[in-house]
Amino acid sequence: MFNQSANPRFSLQGGPEPDLRREFAQAVRLGLGGEAKELPCRYLYDARGSELFDEICLQPEYYPTRTEAAILKNISGDLLAHFATGPQLIELGSGSAEKTRTVIEALLARFGKGCFLPIDVSRSAIEASANSLLGDYPDLVIQGVALGYLEGLQQLERVPGVPRLILWLGSSIGNFHRPEAVEFLHTLGASMQAGDRLLVGFDLRKDAQRLEEAYDDAAGVTARFILNLLTRINRELGADFDLGQFQYRANYDSEIGRVEMWVESTMRQRVTLTGLNWTVDFEAGERIHMENSYKYSPEEISDLGTNAGLLPLQSWTDPADLFCEALFGLQGP
Ligand code: AVJ
Repeated sequence: MFNQSANPRFSLQGGPEPDLRREFAQAVRLGLGGEAKELPCRYLYDARGSELFDEICLQPEYYPTRTEAAILKNISGDLLAHFATGPQLIELGSGSAEKTRTVIEALLARFGKGCFLPIDVSRSAIEASANSLLGDYPDLVIQGVALGYLEGLQQLERVPGVPRLILWLGSSIGNFHRPEAVEFLHTLGASMQAGDRLLVGFDLRKDAQRLEEAYDDAAGVTARFILNLLTRINRELGADFDLGQFQYRANYDSEIGRVEMWVESTMRQRVTLTGLNWTVDFEAGERIHMENSYKYSPEEISDLGTNAGLLPLQSWTDPADLFCEALFGLQGP
């Protein structure tokens, strides 16, 4: 692995990996202290959780990752046809940036060179992906930002005359409640100028069985991913969750259009969190709500864009209508 700080094609701004310990402790106290127990899903992604999520993406039941990759492969040319000048390619939550390769390749094919600006809270994820991309694409420059989505976007310098293509893939938007999704897209829109484009990956509404299998795979990887948050609480907050006495549950609410992920206490029990000087009681069958994954209809996608003040321009799905990439621009003249 070459020294990235010495590579003229790579720069990285933003902080070191933030120390989330205090924030995590507070979130756990708040989430398990209330009447309906819940924990914020962003804490699922510790080192082990990120590893398990990558493994989820490889499960036969978990169609989103490979379906989105296939769509992107088909549409990258069409996507870049929206630009007369080579755009800055920005990605929110870039992670390993595997699916982004096809867009990068189309960018380089059309304009000869390109600049990729990955924004991710994980500094190490940006470094690892940049290392691999720079080796494969000699005409690519990478300017990474190790921050949250919005902080990261604020850090980016606008190059006069250069449009932006912002990618927000993976149906990450599914973790937002619907009104929050509108608000977030609205905020993204505020950073956009005429000619900029935003591409968002949405998981489509579909039958409950297909969804519940995707979120409760036979190999049990998703269950391990969700239950890993209890392991993290044990490790980081000195708790004694007995992993044998909590069960993973996934349920699709077709009216709300979301998959809900829970852990359920199999018996009446008390958990002690020595790091918080605190105990939490569970009834038999009591659940902790760990994650939501919202699904969209094509109409909900364009309404979302319009409500956020954006202009839905084009959308693409796979032949089985499992997943959708939607392209937005700014409203107005
Ligand atoms: C990362 C939010 C897109 O909702 O499909 C997958 C997370 N959780 N399996 C999704 C997830 C359990 C995933 N997102």
